[in-house]
Amino acid sequence: MLKRISVKQLTIGMHIKEFCGSWMEHPFIRSSFLLSNEKDLGVILTSGIKEVWIDSSKGLDVPVSVLAVTEKQAQIEIDATLELVALGGRSMAPVSIEREVERAALICNQSKQAMVSMFEEARMGNSVDVGGAKELVEEISDSVMRNPGALISLARLKSVDDYTYMHSVAVCAMMVVLAKQLGLDEAKTRLAGLAGLMHDLGKAAMPPAVLNKPGKLTEAEFEIIKSHPVKGHAMLLMSDNFDAETRDVCLHHHEKVDGSGYPEGLKGDGISLMAKMGAVCDVYDAITSNRPYKIGWDPAESLRKMAEWSNGHFDQKVFQAFVKSMGIYPVGSLVLMNSGRIGVVTAQSAKSLITPQIKVFYSTKSHMRITPEILDLSRSGSTDKIAGREDPAKWRFPDLDELWSGLPQLKR
Ligand code: C2E
Ligand code: SIN
Ligand code: FE
Repeated sequence: MLKRISVKQLTIGMHIKEFCGSWMEHPFIRSSFLLSNEKDLGVILTSGIKEVWIDSSKGLDVPVSVLAVTEKQAQIEIDATLELVALGGRSMAPVSIEREVERAALICNQSKQAMVSMFEEARMGNSVDVGGAKELVEEISDSVMRNPGALISLARLKSVDDYTYMHSVAVCAMMVVLAKQLGLDEAKTRLAGLAGLMHDLGKAAMPPAVLNKPGKLTEAEFEIIKSHPVKGHAMLLMSDNFDAETRDVCLHHHEKVDGSGYPEGLKGDGISLMAKMGAVCDVYDAITSNRPYKIGWDPAESLRKMAEWSNGHFDQKVFQAFVKSMGIYPVGSLVLMNSGRIGVVTAQSAKSLITPQIKVFYSTKSHMRITPEILDLSRSGSTDKIAGREDPAKWRFPDLDELWSGLPQLKR
């Protein structure tokens, strides 16, 4: 049986199934193993991990009294965990990032132009062309099916002026990948993409001075912004052809599972799966992008922050599926290796979230650039490992985005 216990209750002989809380950053290669020595126990106790799942059918159990209080809560969480396990692994990208990235750049440009026109139509009070939007979703989802990292990571590099348009494209792409990860069928996956593309249509009705304000919004300004889901929903209703999922995500992508979101303050399962997906993709793309009021964070750092907020804001299962689909170190993340080399993530692996492909290009030992080399950490002969994230702001490598994308002259 699976039990969630405090690390303080761990003893040698217990079988660890999974780490809780800091599950994104625990120091072990495998999260499931028999705790057989003091050294590993020491590592766990000093790692910041507070709780673990143990499997009492494969190792020692905890004394009965400790469990009594939390058993019911634990059972609920076990169900959630098992469902998550059932989601399965990620599939490998059939096409390399080098091959997809130029095509993805073209699709990004086309899509941005199309979104500019679409927002313009909406602003003028005209109905939005659903056929055109669906064609874009096809192009975008074909690209992420060939290679998810290419288009999603390129769309992250949007300029501040393009933010709202490219944000729509990025959220569309991530909705497609997340829908696939969650096992939704082809038709639902396309609907998720369309919902992502249209989710912020209501921003067309926001005063540009508020939307593009370089600083923090006043309370009154934020009240105006909070009307964008309702405005967008109304715009979609002007065209008969948008489906209920698109309207739902447009109206509800700012709801939070703890009920503190807007416009309706819906709670938990009062929020649909699609809207919960929209919330996760929306926030990830927002915080990884440069916006008029804030510079973007590193992708891996952003996921870590979202994990901290995720209890109140996001549905846990949806958030974990999102991390599974993007990787703990998404494409473009800066990492330090045990060898002292610094590299940037270029692809995920099908095997494990902590064994992506890394392009190493700098040595912290010699303090010099080295000839870039791709390490595939999932290969059996691979000896180097990720030691942790590195803050890109600390290093300011001017060509970081060229390094992962292989495209010259990419500018943030
Ligand atoms: P957006 O910039 O696309 O951000 C979408 C959502 O991402 C936000 O919804 C919020 O849930 C999340 N988010 C973005 N940045 C952060 C962050 O630094 N910390 C946390 N915890 N969450 C973050 P929210 O807050 O409802 O805002 C909706 C929209 O209102 C934003 O869309 C943006 O267009 C505008 N906005 C919000 N705050 C400001 C601000 O201080 N200045 C300006 N100019 N616009 C703002
Ligand atoms: C609508 O369908 O127009 C409203 C959104 C929803 O389905 O909750
Ligand atoms: Fe929004």
